[in-house]
Amino acid sequence: MSNDSQSPQAAAPLRIAIAGLGTVGAGVIRLLDTNRELIAARAGRPIEVVAVSARDRGKDRGIDLSAFAWEDDMAALARRAEVDVVLELVGGSDGPALALARTTLESGKGLVTANKAMIAHHGLELAENAEANDAPLKFEAAVAGGIPVVKALREGTSANALTRIYGILNGTCNYILSEMEQTGADFGETLAEAQRLGYAEADPTFDIEGIDAAHKLAILAAIGFGARVDFDAVRVTGITQVRAADIAQADALGFVIRLIAQSDVETDAAGAPHLLQRVRPSLVAKDHPLAPVDGPTNAVVAEGNFSGRLLFQGAGAGDGPTASAVVADLIDIAREEVGAPFSIPVARLAALPPTESGHRMERTYLRFTVADRPGVLAEITAAMRDADVSIESLIQQGQADDHGNVLVAMVTHEGPERNVTAALKLLEGSESLTAAPLVLPILPN
Ligand SMILES: NC(=O)c1ccc[n+]([C@@H]2O[C@H](COP(=O)([O-])OP(=O)(O)OC[C@H]3O[C@@H](n4cnc5c(N)ncnc54)[C@H](OP(=O)(O)O)[C@@H]3O)[C@@H](O)[C@H]2O)c1
Repeated sequence: MSNDSQSPQAAAPLRIAIAGLGTVGAGVIRLLDTNRELIAARAGRPIEVVAVSARDRGKDRGIDLSAFAWEDDMAALARRAEVDVVLELVGGSDGPALALARTTLESGKGLVTANKAMIAHHGLELAENAEANDAPLKFEAAVAGGIPVVKALREGTSANALTRIYGILNGTCNYILSEMEQTGADFGETLAEAQRLGYAEADPTFDIEGIDAAHKLAILAAIGFGARVDFDAVRVTGITQVRAADIAQADALGFVIRLIAQSDVETDAAGAPHLLQRVRPSLVAKDHPLAPVDGPTNAVVAEGNFSGRLLFQGAGAGDGPTASAVVADLIDIAREEVGAPFSIPVARLAALPPTESGHRMERTYLRFTVADRPGVLAEITAAMRDADVSIESLIQQGQADDHGNVLVAMVTHEGPERNVTAALKLLEGSESLTAAPLVLPILPN
């Protein structure tokens, strides 16, 4: 136990074991070493690595592991008597990471993880396990890397009823969209460049399809709204259908395009709360605080009934920022400042049903790929009129492509989402449309 009169360096250390020595694991070891003294001062005692595990013992990781015990089987880390806290920095929603997390908590040891997929899928079970065994469970690094947004929503905004939480939660998508904006290049080309530069993984599916952002959103919504984590309820659309032409059209209309992860609590006609969770490429007005967020940066906006709008911004990934979040969790555990993982005990988290799709009022951007011939615009605008969709602006830019197609983009006035769906239904099967339309919401300012 720490003691106020004792030097932090002399106090009993918090002993940790690390599973996974990749980008984040190695970053944590470097950070603990570089900031050793200030961490001990803030934690009230030293934080010491005692054991580590990864797949390949022989790999050169650029860090000295000689002082730590090595376990080939990472589950053995949780069984070591001297270990107080296990860091799960391996990844994967299930498999060895989940097995390690369960064993660690069942042994009454603390668990710190950066694994959003595991927390989005199994966070409630792990939080129950943590409560039952009086073991700390922390996952600051799972959402938005170095930005301390989990702590901000668990603690900093806890006096507020939050109305909306939204933001840019995937650095790969934000890098690709902002590069497309700068260079005018199309999606495929920009993705390839992002992979070459290390901003996108060899298999980018989780990022570009919006799944990674959805994992993080489900976690933030649970904490911010005191709701049970419900990853399956997140409506997800990735960025693969966004073309350079959409970005140019959006620009002409005064917007940028960003992958926005958004969660709102909405009340239905009977006054019952519902939770909207969705990840979608969205138009963001150029004067919105999220519009200038470019490159691999992440940003989260939380709106509270007393705090007003709060903006958190910073690096969403990388060894340093992610290690910073992991070690902040360790310092909280060392100080014995640990609350419920999702801000309130699992039994009291609300089971909020997903919002009924369609009744939401919003402005929408629609892009049609159409045959370049007379009457096409009239057909589209007639469908809009018949479905009660009011058009605010309409742009047809550029020449027909080699196949005789042109793009028509429009922005609607605010109206129910379901009217846009009805208009698109009316256009289904139309010979004027040569590809599926793209429908993007416009983020309210
Ligand atoms: N990278 C980031 O910027 C970032 C940001 C936020 C959150 N995260 C999360 O942090 C976690 C780790 O990410 P990372 O980027 O550090 O991954 P990484 O560089 O791929 O490292 C993963 C580590 O896990 C080890 N490992 C994999 N399977 C294993 C197994 N079956 N048994 C033992 N060890 C195993 C690997 O061992 P070898 O090295 O021997 O192959 C490697 O050291 C993930 O959950 C990720 O989502 C990462």
